[in-house]
Amino acid sequence: MAGTMRALSISGVTRGGEAKLSEVPIPAVKPGWALVRMRGFGLNHSELELRRSEICADYIKKPIIPGIEGVGEVAEPGDTDFVAGTKVCMLMGGMGRSWDGSYAEWCLVPATRMFRIPDAACELPWSALAAIPETYYTAWGSLFEGLRLEASDTLLVRGASCGLGYTTVQIAHALGSRVIATTHRNKYVEELRRFGADEVVLDDGSLSRAGVRAHKALELIGPRTLQDTLGCLWHGGICCDTGILGGVFTLDRFDPIKGIPNGCYLTGFFSNYPTQEVMDALFAFVAKHGLEPFVAASFPFDRLPDALALQDDGGFQGKIVVTFD
Ligand SMILES: NC(=O)c1ccc[n+]([C@@H]2O[C@H](COP(=O)([O-])OP(=O)(O)OC[C@H]3O[C@@H](n4cnc5c(N)ncnc54)[C@H](OP(=O)(O)O)[C@@H]3O)[C@@H](O)[C@H]2O)c1
Repeated sequence: MAGTMRALSISGVTRGGEAKLSEVPIPAVKPGWALVRMRGFGLNHSELELRRSEICADYIKKPIIPGIEGVGEVAEPGDTDFVAGTKVCMLMGGMGRSWDGSYAEWCLVPATRMFRIPDAACELPWSALAAIPETYYTAWGSLFEGLRLEASDTLLVRGASCGLGYTTVQIAHALGSRVIATTHRNKYVEELRRFGADEVVLDDGSLSRAGVRAHKALELIGPRTLQDTLGCLWHGGICCDTGILGGVFTLDRFDPIKGIPNGCYLTGFFSNYPTQEVMDALFAFVAKHGLEPFVAASFPFDRLPDALALQDDGGFQGKIVVTFD
């Protein structure tokens, strides 16, 4: 499809208030890739990191259109197995980092990174669908591949007052698990209860000494609190490290012999490997349980700079989404 499209294309550190949409060429279809008419996308913490500093790293293509996920309709399937008009979602695999992402009216996506949205979920509005792919896939993978969560489990979600946290609380509650959620701010307690937390704990950094205990623990603050979270597991428990809200990315002087309690397990989850099978399962679960994504704010695409400014400022709860209708 010849012509130009509006997009946010950046080459250096970019604050939301400075971001400007520009006209760039609509990408041409190439073997193994399909052109998607974008209908919506959610903003992610990792995109904030990209705009703040990661953009300077050598492995980031420049200029780059950010955006690690999105939803839309196949416009030109090229030589892929997709059919024009199919509703799809796409995420990760270098999207918005090594190839142009979703902050654009059109997106060229490798078929391996694109997944059909099953019929059961197709009735959801684009603003709800836009909040699902990355956040629900990460929650789903952490809970079921990482933690092997079962209805009989008590789950601890540490750092639950973020988009991913609310989603894991919501899914685990729908499954029937007992959920203990932690937050660092009193003002988020009621919201976490609304999403299904049975107990909400104000996190002072030491949950294990306070006697918090669970079969499974999802660590969203990351290495900063991981050691303490491991101390909250009952024998046979599993901890999955998925987030880095604490701003510390790696473990320093961690002694796995003493650090991981006897009979307990430590794993991690990286949202880079979605499959159609898993996306089908999670969309079906969302539809079956009538789960509504926690949308913090929804912006039309021409107000993307305002959406990014809100992301910069913080203080929002849930997922910021951008739509094109
Ligand atoms: N492993 C993976 O593949 C994967 C995939 C997706 C996301 N993640 C990670 O999961 C985490 C959540 O992602 P997200 O997209 O859901 O983030 P998000 O919704 O953008 O949440 C960020 C917000 O979390 C709040 N927050 C809650 N507890 C916090 C704490 N202890 N310290 C600092 N901030 C806290 C902050 O708001 P307030 O300051 O207002 O409280 C912050 O603005 C991030 O670390 C992200 O990198 C990992």
